[in-house]
Amino acid sequence: MSLKLNSRERPKSTGCITEDADSSVKLVMVGDSGVGKSCLLDKFLDDSSTNNFISTIGVDIRSRETVINNKKVKIQVWDTGGQQRYRPVLASCYRGALGVIIVFDVTNRISFKNIKQWMVEVEEFASNSNIPRMLVGNKADLSDRREVEFEVAAEFARQNNIAYIETSVMRKSNIKEAFLELVKTSTR
Ligand code: GTP
Repeated sequence: MSLKLNSRERPKSTGCITEDADSSVKLVMVGDSGVGKSCLLDKFLDDSSTNNFISTIGVDIRSRETVINNKKVKIQVWDTGGQQRYRPVLASCYRGALGVIIVFDVTNRISFKNIKQWMVEVEEFASNSNIPRMLVGNKADLSDRREVEFEVAAEFARQNNIAYIETSVMRKSNIKEAFLELVKTSTR
């Protein structure tokens, strides 16, 4: 299967990306289809997000610059399609990645259960099996539909020695924190 880039009919990058960043960091986002990966990335890039669910085909690569510790860092994010049929292209996405964001939906127990399988793939395909990872429980705004309690996910993260954060695209909460914490860990 060949690598298909960017299904979405919109520009791939937002913001002004210049060539004079002091460093650049590649992150990969994985997780089941529909957990909110693309919406999280839209919000991180300050795009206006849409409520329409357009499933990512293959991988969507987008970037932005930010300043961390007085240094300009270019963050390139590979947003992968969560559908099973895109799994064969994922291995190549990890090449050169310095961090992985693994997303599940707190209202979808299966998407949390599948995190184990995503972790196996990360360990198999990332050049460094100890690559920094951030576990993200998204859709935290939907408290009445929650199927995965915070403590359960946090304990799983502790046992696997990875960071855990809950986000909400609708409430715009913890999104920058999720990305930037991982960038900081990845560039340490
Ligand atoms: P694939 O591209 O198929 O892998 O899916 P994805 O993980 O990129 O999901 P996407 O970002 O397209 O979001 C799927 C649906 O979830 C959309 O209808 C979003 O509006 C909705 N959604 C995403 N984040 C949130 C959130 O924090 N809260 C709520 N309530 N809905 C969300």
